[in-house]
Amino acid sequence: MTKASALIAAAGAGERLGKGINKAFVEVAGKPILAHTLSVFESCKAVGEIIIITGEPDIEAAGELVGRFGFSKVSGIVAGGVQRQDSVRNGLDAATGDIVAIHDAARPMVTVELIERSIEKAAEMGACVAAVPVIDTIKSARGDDVVSTVDRSELYSVQTPQTFRAELIRRAYERAYADGYYATDDAALVERLGDRVAVVVGSYDNIKVTTPSDLEIAQVKLGGGFMDETRVGIGFDVHAFAENRKLMLGGVEIEYESGLAGHSDADVVLHAIADALLGAAALGDIGRHFPDSDPAYKGISSLNLLSEVNHIIAQAGWCVVNVDATVICERPKISTYVPEMRQMIARALNASPDRISIKGTTTERLGFTGRGEGIACQAVGTLRKA
Ligand code: CTP
Ligand code: MG
Repeated sequence: MTKASALIAAAGAGERLGKGINKAFVEVAGKPILAHTLSVFESCKAVGEIIIITGEPDIEAAGELVGRFGFSKVSGIVAGGVQRQDSVRNGLDAATGDIVAIHDAARPMVTVELIERSIEKAAEMGACVAAVPVIDTIKSARGDDVVSTVDRSELYSVQTPQTFRAELIRRAYERAYADGYYATDDAALVERLGDRVAVVVGSYDNIKVTTPSDLEIAQVKLGGGFMDETRVGIGFDVHAFAENRKLMLGGVEIEYESGLAGHSDADVVLHAIADALLGAAALGDIGRHFPDSDPAYKGISSLNLLSEVNHIIAQAGWCVVNVDATVICERPKISTYVPEMRQMIARALNASPDRISIKGTTTERLGFTGRGEGIACQAVGTLRKA
């Protein structure tokens, strides 16, 4: 059996992505989407040739890309048409294999394994589509009104590759064009002939990059890390020891002969962390958000303030990556309290405790912390776009 021909449909305008260019050429994780997709097909043993279908003005750029990345299986670059179906038809004219795997350039997370499974299935059954069961409850609606809830047990979201015996998909395309029939995928044209189309299990990762948020998902999945900047903030706070006060550090009551002076519960650790997080988001400091002239904050648990800070940064579109704090004092020793502090802080920040670090140090009896006059805390926090 000859190897399969892969048709890569890359002739759309990419309007919904809003980059002003054909999205196949948009860079994600260091290279154009088309290059990611081609490299998966290039690695497929069952694929003998690859035909790229792209817009007339992009043919040169596609050729340059193939040369730059050294894709040796690309045997042709042909011009697309107005609709995707028109584009695929042009590609079919150039394909020479017995099996044709049709794939959207905009699905760069396709895997070698899925392509090979789909080629095997098409060889056996004639036609197959990659598909995954729908996740959401599906309703039909007219205008603003729900009409009914659809039984989703038989519903699938259909992806590409869609793979066919070449003779069958050509016959299906000829019939569709003879009847002036257009559909949104290739298999629909085969279904119209009354031929069987099999389902192969696709993957929820095999998304079609359509909107800007899809691009962010692709960036992470393709190993490019987070697209949005990471922000770092720094915080520092000091409170003096005071008689007849509970000592609160990191949201935990510490057994000690004195507490810390302050308007709230004077939790120096939580204050430094709150300032670090607000600083990372460039949203001021705790003094601005919770002025100590405001009686509402008198004696308040600083865990509540930290939760509120988390809410403020979340509203601005940020979420906590990690926090690291150093508590500076000669006494008390804090190490036995650290696990509980991490739990309390993590809970206030809706984060996992393994992203929260608390350390203790002394200043070798130097300075005000060394003389036991108070406790200082330094913290850094990092945020990423939620
Ligand atoms: N496609 C194509 N020829 C067309 C239209 C689309 O080859 N005339 C390709 C796209 O390049 C894409 C795939 O078909 O890889 C799926 O289409 P879609 O996600 O709709 O891409 P675009 O049409 O580029 O995007 P938009 O609809 O947002 O403009
Ligand atoms: Mg489109």
